[in-house]
Amino acid sequence: MVTEFARNQWYVAAYGHEVGRRQLGRTILNEPILLYRTEDGRAVAMADRCVHRRFPLSESPSHLVGDRVVCGYHGFTYGPDGVCVAVPAQQRIPRTARLRTYPVVEQDSFVWVWIGDREPGDTLPPRAPWLVSPDYATVCGMEPLNARYGLLVDNLLDLSHETYLHGGYIGTPEVAETPITTEVDEDAGVVYVSRHMDDAACPPFYAESTGIKGRITRWQDIEYHPPCLYLLHSRVAPVGSPPPAADGTDPHAFHVEVVYAITPSTENATYDFWAVARDFALDDEKVSDFLRDSNRTVVLQDVAALNTLEQVLAAEPDRYQELSVNIDTGGLAARRLLARMAGPVPADSVPSQTAVR
Ligand code: FES
Ligand SMILES: [Fe+2]
Repeated sequence: MVTEFARNQWYVAAYGHEVGRRQLGRTILNEPILLYRTEDGRAVAMADRCVHRRFPLSESPSHLVGDRVVCGYHGFTYGPDGVCVAVPAQQRIPRTARLRTYPVVEQDSFVWVWIGDREPGDTLPPRAPWLVSPDYATVCGMEPLNARYGLLVDNLLDLSHETYLHGGYIGTPEVAETPITTEVDEDAGVVYVSRHMDDAACPPFYAESTGIKGRITRWQDIEYHPPCLYLLHSRVAPVGSPPPAADGTDPHAFHVEVVYAITPSTENATYDFWAVARDFALDDEKVSDFLRDSNRTVVLQDVAALNTLEQVLAAEPDRYQELSVNIDTGGLAARRLLARMAGPVPADSVPSQTAVR
């Protein structure tokens, strides 16, 4: 199972708060990228390799001077447009002394970069507005994963693993026991996976943060916008609470928007950006601390499992046989959309066995 990278797409490179007046280096789809902010606050992204001898511009002693970045090896200096403006010991600057720059959009607390040869045109990244909404409180983080990107897509599209991998945090027996419904919007390229539990145990993640004692109605509605953005609309309410009103208001329930940005770094490394936005206990720091710690623990449980899986898969012959069942329907739909976005791939690299049994 190798998921080809989809180019000519937006990917999250960083949170806005990570990009500042110090250089940040990230590798995205195998491309080393330098990020920083100009003095007027604009985030810029360009190739993180000096054109002279390839020294990384994100590495000390490379440094910023005003809006320019100075290579720490011999001093080639570049503007935020990637053009070299100074070379040591000569006036003439070679015409080819310029770094590739990347289109950047800052939106919903993320710094998105466009990876590809085509221009993005009118295409904008998908939205996650809760992360900057005054009606929500958000905690977030990023964990690097030493595993291929497709493994994290599989993991997030099938939450039945919560029962086993995340028991004691977010998993209860009902998650694995309740069937899912899967829909694919082929035109928009979005995968929807829903699991509605009418009467379920309340896991500590929600019991401690909401204060609900007793059993809950728990809805998990996933929206995956491949390749990068994953949204989990989570609704919990005490059993017997009224459902959402026809106008969409839902005052009897607690809402948590769990957002992941899944950014491939290399063939076997991935950035796992995670955020948890809630519409309750907005000013309660204890709840924030609890949700941050709990979600990070849950993410690290996934990271450990997927790092193990990567080792296993890397040691196996290419065409090992998977067995898929109903819970995998969302993950298989995601793989199909990702393969379509990545463009034509040789027939023998597509898994031959994707039927659901
Ligand atoms: S490698 Fe950057 S100036 Fe020489
Ligand atoms: Fe998980």
